[in-house]
Amino acid sequence: MKDWERLVNTVTDVDVQWDVPASRLNTFRVGGTARCVARPRTEDSLKTLLKTLKAEGLPWTIVGNGSNVLFPDGAWDHMVILLDRCATRLEYQRRDDRSGTVRVGSGLKLTHLVKLCIRHGWTGLEFLAGIPATVGGAVVMNAGTRDGAVGDVLERVRLLDETLRERTVPRSELPMGYRSGGLPPGAVVLEADFRVMLGLPRCIAGKVAKLLRERRRSQPARWPSAGCVFKNPPGLSAGALIDQAGFKGYRVGDAQVSPVHANWIVNRGRATRADVLEVIRTVRHGVRERFGVDLELEVRVLE
Ligand code: EPU
Repeated sequence: MKDWERLVNTVTDVDVQWDVPASRLNTFRVGGTARCVARPRTEDSLKTLLKTLKAEGLPWTIVGNGSNVLFPDGAWDHMVILLDRCATRLEYQRRDDRSGTVRVGSGLKLTHLVKLCIRHGWTGLEFLAGIPATVGGAVVMNAGTRDGAVGDVLERVRLLDETLRERTVPRSELPMGYRSGGLPPGAVVLEADFRVMLGLPRCIAGKVAKLLRERRRSQPARWPSAGCVFKNPPGLSAGALIDQAGFKGYRVGDAQVSPVHANWIVNRGRATRADVLEVIRTVRHGVRERFGVDLELEVRVLE
């Protein structure tokens, strides 16, 4: 076990919790315990914490809303760092009478951002409605839907690079792709700037409601999940392939291929990561046998 206690005592302004059930840290509700969860209260304390961890060679992972990760089943001796206390700033910068930029902290949830967009009459980010991510996670993954992706509205990202140097990177320098933010390796997102137009709150609320209705119609909402498990292969739909291979409803323990949408695995109660990985393995094998297609994971398996 790592000497986390000694380490966190050397850093001020960090709230620490010990032995946190991992199920509280991810939307799948899967996993054992996270030995140490740290929430820096300021950007400076985040930097100091990361500096100390790097100097000591200790493992850490930034977790956002936990909607695209699969935690280990046992006790996880990584420091889990949450940015929900140090990176929640939101600020609007006017460009002209019709448009501007929303600068938003990486620890803020997209659901909250979308609500603020409705309240202030900022249009352009409606497609983010219903994506259960934080701003940071959404940038890292280039989260999106058929209606748009983060890369379409992103102007720049302020981040800490691998050497903990603060940098502002314009969108044009990020090689973003499908579900890939193109960030430099080891980067920690602090803030993102999104381009918005001014609109009527009533219209924006209407668009958001419509997108949420469509989501509820086509995607499983009843059980915990991590959203889509696999990326769509170029020109194909992972959900349709898994469905046609006959896996809807396939279950190992409490992990089940959703009968509503085959690219979702749902937790029917007490699914373990081992259950989920077994479903993933079988589905992948089945789709390869039947269609000769290798499905690539969208969900990040934490090691
Ligand atoms: N389909 C089936 N059977 C299924 C599921 C889907 O035949 O069980 C068919 C649908 O009928 C449709 C096609 O497959 O013709 C595509 O399905 P869908 O419209 O549900 O979209 P998707 O490609 O599966 C993508 C994103 C979602 C996003 C939706 C809506 C990926 C991997 N998934 O899903 O993102 O919400 O479009 O825009 O890119 C996520 O990334 O976690 C996620 C949920």
